[in-house]
Amino acid sequence: MHATPDPGTDLAASTASRSRGASRHGAILVTGAGGEMGHGLLEAFAAERARREEAGESFPAVVAIDLRELPESHRALCDESFAGDICDDALLERMLSSFEVGEIYHLAALLSTRSEFVPETAHAVNVGGTLNLLRLAAAEARTHGSAVRFFFPSSIAAYGVPDLATKRAAGAVSEDQFLQPHTMYGANKVSGENLGFYYANHYRKLAADRMAHPIDFRSIRFPGIISADTVPSGGTSDYGPEMLHAAARGEPYACFVRPDARIPFMTMPEAIGAIRTLMAAPAESLGRTVYNIQSFNPSAEEFLAEVRRFFPEAETTFEPDLARQSIVDSWPEACDDAAARADWGWAPTYDLASAFSEYLVPRIRERYAR
Ligand code: SER
Repeated sequence: MHATPDPGTDLAASTASRSRGASRHGAILVTGAGGEMGHGLLEAFAAERARREEAGESFPAVVAIDLRELPESHRALCDESFAGDICDDALLERMLSSFEVGEIYHLAALLSTRSEFVPETAHAVNVGGTLNLLRLAAAEARTHGSAVRFFFPSSIAAYGVPDLATKRAAGAVSEDQFLQPHTMYGANKVSGENLGFYYANHYRKLAADRMAHPIDFRSIRFPGIISADTVPSGGTSDYGPEMLHAAARGEPYACFVRPDARIPFMTMPEAIGAIRTLMAAPAESLGRTVYNIQSFNPSAEEFLAEVRRFFPEAETTFEPDLARQSIVDSWPEACDDAAARADWGWAPTYDLASAFSEYLVPRIRERYAR
């Protein structure tokens, strides 16, 4: 692995120093690499690289982009990092001058709660950024003559169940139901899914010189994700991880949804594992571009009961915020993940109890004991 540039190093200069002569390195690009999922993915790539190198095999360079300079812990996991906006063409051009991108994990986005405060900005970043990356991927595919594999994290926020009675009656929803989200973030996720499908199958349909399938687009609609290492910010499923981390830190927590609020969740390692499995699956086995997955779906009250099994002193209260509650009420209480199971072998690692006892609690205890 290459050394990463010192903070403050001129990006253009450090990038140039990495280009080997006139040829560009084959690379995996991760946008939003400084986020919760980005960190997990960079760690997974670093582990995979170590395994491959031990077996005498090569692994592509890992290139990260984030709005902010990555912390040293993240930078150590990748070959190059760029601080900047994914809507900034000059930044992407600079990155492309050194790297030939064969795979993209486009994680950069504003989450659902934050997006409601600045909907037009959210659209510019969430849809404009996705469009920019898809365009870049299609151009790369044309240059090196093979499809670029593109991962897009979609979300249960893509759903908009009209009311609570319908939500309860619907149970586990399929990928094609209720796709009229109530949030800008959700609308942006549906757009991203649709744009991915278009670029994968119909891009420049009328152009005589078109490439038939420039992008191999793969997407997962994630449920709420809980990590032992990080706490999310700006999302609406954040009440789960916030409740647990507050209890572990011995801090009081006011949960912003009702005790009976129910949506699906999973752990971060399961989410990262699912991305890797889907991206490694043979294209012929994939019958769709977007897949539901989930591991467990407790109500907020059931989630708290699990927290209290390990942290009985947890000072948690319920103080529903009606607006955020309405977002959670528009998300399904469960997702039907039969297609993911059938096409690429998805299966959850944990149920609620084992997620707490085997992953979350031991790791969180260790973290806050430090
Ligand atoms: N967990 C995200 C959020 O709450 C949904 O993708 O915004």
